Amino acid sequence: MPLLSWFNRDADLTRAALAPYRLLEPVAKLSYGDEDSPNMLIEGDNLDALKALLPYYAGQVKCIFIDPPYNTQSAVSIHYEDNIEHSQWLSMMYPRLELLKELLDERGSIWITLDDNEAHYFKVIADEVFGRQNFMADITWHRKISPANDAKYFSNDNDHLLVYAKSKDKLTINRLARTEKNNAVFKNPDKDPRGAWNSVTLTGNKTKDERPNLYFMITGPQGQEVWPPDGLTWRASPETYAEMAKDKLIYWGKDGSSRSPRIKRFADEAKPVIPRSLWHYDDAGHTQEAMIESKTLFGPSSFFGTPKPERLIKRILDIATNPGDLVLDSFLGSGTTAAVAHKMGRRWIGVEMGDHARTHCQLRMTKVVEGEQGGISEAVEWKGGGGFRFYKLGVPVFDENGHIREGIRFEHLAAHVWFAETGTARSTRAAKKPFLGEHQGVGYYLLFNGILGDESKNGGNVLTRRVLRGLEPFDGPKVIYGESCDLPKERLEELQITFKQTPYDIKAR
Ligand SMILES: C[S@@+](CC[C@H](N)C(=O)[O-])C[C@H]1O[C@@H](n2cnc3c(N)ncnc32)[C@H](O)[C@@H]1O
Repeated sequence: MPLLSWFNRDADLTRAALAPYRLLEPVAKLSYGDEDSPNMLIEGDNLDALKALLPYYAGQVKCIFIDPPYNTQSAVSIHYEDNIEHSQWLSMMYPRLELLKELLDERGSIWITLDDNEAHYFKVIADEVFGRQNFMADITWHRKISPANDAKYFSNDNDHLLVYAKSKDKLTINRLARTEKNNAVFKNPDKDPRGAWNSVTLTGNKTKDERPNLYFMITGPQGQEVWPPDGLTWRASPETYAEMAKDKLIYWGKDGSSRSPRIKRFADEAKPVIPRSLWHYDDAGHTQEAMIESKTLFGPSSFFGTPKPERLIKRILDIATNPGDLVLDSFLGSGTTAAVAHKMGRRWIGVEMGDHARTHCQLRMTKVVEGEQGGISEAVEWKGGGGFRFYKLGVPVFDENGHIREGIRFEHLAAHVWFAETGTARSTRAAKKPFLGEHQGVGYYLLFNGILGDESKNGGNVLTRRVLRGLEPFDGPKVIYGESCDLPKERLEELQITFKQTPYDIKAR
């Protein structure tokens, strides 16, 4: 497969793997609402933040939306850098995409907005990371209501919205609920008491030679005898046609004299619509409304310069998620994705490295929890509720020599051991006990921090006969992590135990 090359590419391929696993430190005074809320607002560079999330959220995120800096050199932003050199921009994106992919659920999707400046280069690196076969669409979002007449050559009226599945075969997405515009095709010229309808022709697309049973004469209300046109057939067999005629589903024109009968389809029974790859601002919002939303939220002097409209994010989440699903935005900006996800009853994680994590995202989400009424609030009948926890990045879990840092708690190390062994996430609420769980027929244990209640030095961290007796039994092969092991090799083999030493055997993934 052809690959894109840029300055420093080789180093960028290892950047995600080399990023340290940091802890996420809760900041109580910036958290708001429900204390048990799963929603996370994280302040910090997203490379570190995404890595920190892996042991807890790998494979859990149903939808990722990102709106990274477009690298346009023209975006006027006092809040973040939007003019980094082309290679540097690719260097920034590549390792982050690798981590985002690991966080995605097998059934999930990632959506990325960009403009012409980087979209096509981005497509090539995203093909490499996600697999070309998982590319779903390059949606054109018509975001400008009026042209930029002062542009030198073209008014750039659209953004690209690229969509990738984690795994196309497993992807689950929704169709869109019908809008008034969709339903405008339904009329009621014959005042049918069953409501408005539209119609499709009764003529099918097979020839009478192919489907002779669909070729037959029917009689209209005025006694007109009608055969399918041009040697074609009807869509229905005589039996099905009789049923439809009985149910008054055949339309013969205003005065019943038509020779081209049609089948009625009622608005009430119409299916949700397939998402198209062209999104008009009437349906998906526009840049101007996003600016108004931002000014209303933050005031005329400190509004955010490049927000997305809430309606755009709602449309994405309508397609890509269901209530309760987890949504992630690692370039959170002014917090639009978090606000929309919250109002739509999705769980969310947002990452922002600028000061606006506090000045804008935190403020906005506090307002949302209180029942803020801008953006999509009316459409989703948002009344307020829920909450979020604010986090900043803490120390790395392992120091530069690979030792476990002072102060690391059992549950942190447990998440890292579990993720390193299984590649899957460990719930932040998992019980604090040495038996971490079973994965593909193997039981995993961790002896750390005197978890068995022994306060002496190294107490309970060494695998001895006594410690073994205190462990929850597991019938099958076991992997036990501890500081050292006192049991002879033969006994370990007999008990199907593979002993691994902390921290050296916790292999970073
Ligand atoms: C275009 S803005 C996103 C706007 C957002 N969609 C909204 O509606 O407000 C891009 C954001 O990404 C942030 N950003 C850029 N690089 C980042 C990084 N490495 N880690 C975290 N945030 C980053 C910038 O600070 C900026 O706020």
